[in-house]
Amino acid sequence: MKNSAILAWRRATVNDCSLLADLNHQLIRDEGHRNKMDVVQLSQRMNGWLQFGEYAAVLFQHGGDVVSYALYRETAEVVELRQLFVIRNRRREGIGRQTLTILRGRVWPKTKRLTVEVLAKNAAAVAFWRALGFRDYSMCLEILPEP
Ligand SMILES: CC(C)(COP(=O)(O)OP(=O)(O)OC[C@H]1O[C@@H](n2cnc3c(N)ncnc32)[C@H](O)[C@@H]1OP(=O)(O)O)[C@@H](O)C(=O)NCCC(=O)NCCS
Repeated sequence: MKNSAILAWRRATVNDCSLLADLNHQLIRDEGHRNKMDVVQLSQRMNGWLQFGEYAAVLFQHGGDVVSYALYRETAEVVELRQLFVIRNRRREGIGRQTLTILRGRVWPKTKRLTVEVLAKNAAAVAFWRALGFRDYSMCLEILPEP
């Protein structure tokens, strides 16, 4: 798989919301996010995003199976990547890298700045983005409210 351009891709529609919500749910677990939404709630949120065009999503397949997806929104100057997920049993095969190559080469305009927010504890993703050429730009610091 590595370095071979064999992922097929297509833009997701509202009909893909259940699938995307299931993958989003896994992503939330894997990145260690605090979001407690269940798959049904995630599906409703996804539906709203895609239906009204606030966000767009792209699905990537290998051998007929969905192996990754990306969710992003575009403003006049920026492409903000909100979600990127590679299925668990296909990681470290170059699928994430190839997903970004396709997005940058065929889906997103080359004229816009790309941004992605990463949880500080998600070391795998931080390493991934840096390997792909992303550079640190800002940090979000916080104090949690008392329980
Ligand atoms: C982050 C993620 C998208 C990476 O996808 P992937 O297909 O495994 O990444 P690739 O195989 O294309 O890796 C490309 C390079 O990134 C770096 N990298 C990827 N995963 C890494 C890890 N776990 N640890 C260290 N470096 C890593 C490596 O340099 C790698 O190249 P190499 O395999 O030749 O060493 C995937 O792990 C994932 O979906 N994680 C859960 C969801 C998530 O955290 N998404 C990002 C939210 S911001």
